Amino acid sequence: MTPAEIKALVRTVPDFPAPGILFRDITTLIAHGPGLSATLDHLADAARDRGAEAIAGLEARGFIFGAMVAARLGLGFVPLRKPGKLPVDVIGVDYALEYGTARLELDPTLIDQGERVVVVDDLIATGGTALAGADLLRRAGATVDHALFVIDLPELGGGEALRAAGVELWALMAFE
Ligand code: PRP
Ligand code: ADE
Repeated sequence: MTPAEIKALVRTVPDFPAPGILFRDITTLIAHGPGLSATLDHLADAARDRGAEAIAGLEARGFIFGAMVAARLGLGFVPLRKPGKLPVDVIGVDYALEYGTARLELDPTLIDQGERVVVVDDLIATGGTALAGADLLRRAGATVDHALFVIDLPELGGGEALRAAGVELWALMAFE
């Protein structure tokens, strides 16, 4: 399937979770077998082309795509988790969202020093989540040069914020 065909499987829900937000809902895409498989093909090709040695995913929707991409490539998957979920000592970072604030945590012992970790998430809006993830991974010793997304919302400036931090964005589709 082409990116345009996959894009047609994303559902748009106005005013969720707050008035004025156009929510780009990937549940309709992942419920569609050929659409999900094609999405993973595109993401896995992009991760392979960028020399990924491990994949990191951002809780929760980034786990869906990130873990499956890692499995397709025979790579390990590193979860960047919401607070209070990991049973060991963690490093953490607080960050701003399009509609609120949040925190991510990482077990730094999951990272080999200098390992080329590619970040995967369903969507980039302001880039706050992906930047927080890249920051945590770098603090743990990873090399983080690339982040992959199913959906980019370019008007929210996430790609530019990532680039300013030395992380190149790749996205399967954009909603202007
Ligand atoms: C959503 C989405 C990204 C993030 C993008 O996650 O899955 O991770 O927001 O926004 P940003 O670029 O402005 O940071 P959310 O925090 O809603 O959590 P979820 O995956 O648990 O639904
Ligand atoms: N995460 C942040 N902004 C979003 C949006 N507009 N749709 C879906 N997920 C999001």
